[in-house]
Amino acid sequence: MDRLIVTGGRRLSGTVRVNGAKNSALKLMAAALLAEGETVIENVPHIADCLTMAEVLEGLGAGLSWDGTTLTVSTQGAHGVETPYELVSQMRASIVVLGPLLARHRRAMVAMPGGCNIGSRKIDLHLKGFERMGAHFSYEHGFLNATAPSLRGAMISLDFPSVGATENILMAAVAASGTTVIENAAREPEIQDLAAMLVQMGAKIDGAGTTTIEIHGVDGFLPVRHRVIPDRIEAGTFAVAACAAGGAISIESARAEHMDLVLDKLVEAGAGITGDDRGVRVAMAERPNPIDFVTLPYPGFPTDLQPQMMALLSTARGTSILTENVFESRFMFVDELNRMGADIRTEGHHAVIRGVERLSAAPVRALDIRAGAAMVIAALTADGATEISNIHHVDRGYEDLEGRLASLGAEIRREPSPWPAAH
Ligand code: EPU
Repeated sequence: MDRLIVTGGRRLSGTVRVNGAKNSALKLMAAALLAEGETVIENVPHIADCLTMAEVLEGLGAGLSWDGTTLTVSTQGAHGVETPYELVSQMRASIVVLGPLLARHRRAMVAMPGGCNIGSRKIDLHLKGFERMGAHFSYEHGFLNATAPSLRGAMISLDFPSVGATENILMAAVAASGTTVIENAAREPEIQDLAAMLVQMGAKIDGAGTTTIEIHGVDGFLPVRHRVIPDRIEAGTFAVAACAAGGAISIESARAEHMDLVLDKLVEAGAGITGDDRGVRVAMAERPNPIDFVTLPYPGFPTDLQPQMMALLSTARGTSILTENVFESRFMFVDELNRMGADIRTEGHHAVIRGVERLSAAPVRALDIRAGAAMVIAALTADGATEISNIHHVDRGYEDLEGRLASLGAEIRREPSPWPAAH
């Protein structure tokens, strides 16, 4: 297992390009299962999660070929309906094949995802939605066995605007008979990207990007060519890194309109930010101001940037308060930040961050994708060389994070770790 060695104190400057959005690409790959033929998805990031989704599709019989970041998914032989625990346990998002499998084969066997590092992450909302559409479930040997001899449109009101439930239900509803309405739907840009591809494939969808999505089921889907939107969380991670380390960077291809609240908060923290159709520029000269924020479903502040912001605010000139509303245990990495000299107390889903002048390097672990990015950001500001282990978590969501930060002037390198990974 590799580790990252980061020596703090270098300001960042230059230009970095944002890759395609992980959380969009994964769902577009699953959606390719709906059409018979070759679907071409451009701008797919080379990250471990996309490779895992590629394995999921191959396991279902699809043929995949890569040309740079362009992925072709051929579904002629995709007759499989089973996704094993080995893959679902590597990446919970594998369960997003449930919707397309029910749509195409009226059957699916997907291993139940286990626990993960950011809360229990149930899938009850996905299943309730499918049940309303006529699906039946049973559990055997760790597998969820789903059948839907007839898949019909339904009124589905989500208790919470779950991203995964909205996407999974959407991908089944496009092939159901009649009309499905999803109320309290998630509004993330990735959902709009998925709906855009589905519409291109022949689906009839109104209201994606709003809280009510109406879907009129259709019979067949065409394979299409679609380009993944830029990753707003990756762009935000670079923006926060520049604010923490100080300096001025351009984040090419970042879409400011997907990052409104994040950019507002960084301005409140003291950053100078400009954006246009080429990307976003971020400059920061001093220690950040303290800020308060709460995470919420889009267009609220994204939970996927909460750990990185926590790392930034740990050296703010005062006390910040943050509230995590999306995941129940997304503060586990706080102990790692405190090992670097941060002064953060958590109580339930609130965190009080008393800014210290400087963090000090220590051996720390990446606990999940975003917590790992937070450790890297903390290390960029720390006094000395920080060793970050369990970097496989970072590799799930960021392609060559160290190379791209190094190109901005950070002192960061990857080394094989002498220790086995601790999860
Ligand atoms: N929830 C339920 N029941 C459900 C579904 C969700 O109770 O059936 C709860 C979850 O336990 C959680 C909350 O609802 O507390 C939000 O979950 P959601 O379903 O919205 O999240 P997700 O689809 O599992 C996606 C992203 C996450 C991102 C969240 C929130 C993908 C592959 N993952 O997860 O991304 O944090 O939406 O925006 O799209 C990451 O990229 O690092 C990451 C964790």
